[in-house]
Amino acid sequence: MPTILVLNGPNLNLLGTREPATYGSTTLADVEALCAAAGQKLGFAVECRQSNHEGVLIDALHEAGHGFKAGSVAGVVFNAGAYTHSSVALHDAIRAIEVPVIEVHISNVHARESFRHHSWLSPVAAGIIVGFGVDGYVMAIEALARKAAAKG
Ligand code: DQA
Repeated sequence: MPTILVLNGPNLNLLGTREPATYGSTTLADVEALCAAAGQKLGFAVECRQSNHEGVLIDALHEAGHGFKAGSVAGVVFNAGAYTHSSVALHDAIRAIEVPVIEVHISNVHARESFRHHSWLSPVAAGIIVGFGVDGYVMAIEALARKAAAKG
């Protein structure tokens, strides 16, 4: 069964208690359970990882790249948190691995502060899902399943 990696970046371990008016009251564990259920329905294993460290996120993307080449990984759902707006290194990692990466943001970053309007990931993402709350993770898994089906 191919795997979808659900990768969460800095501060997303605090989901549920962090700024609930913006991010809701669902915890990261709840999100991961939602993702596992969505994957199971679509025939994918879901691996969930979270890190507050840029290098750890890069290593996880590289690992997904090896898995994609080997045929064991179908794609990555990635909420890079604030690194979205600052990390050329994550841009380069996504560009390097050639894995479909769906960029997800729980909040509508374009309706927020201007420093959240630029994403280093969007130009190298296969697609972007923004502003649908934690449902965005499930939508991204569905998008990767469609992509994998289209690839055959
Ligand atoms: C976020 C939006 C980012 O601007 C912010 O730094 C986050 C969460 C979101 O999911 O809405 O940490 O990626």
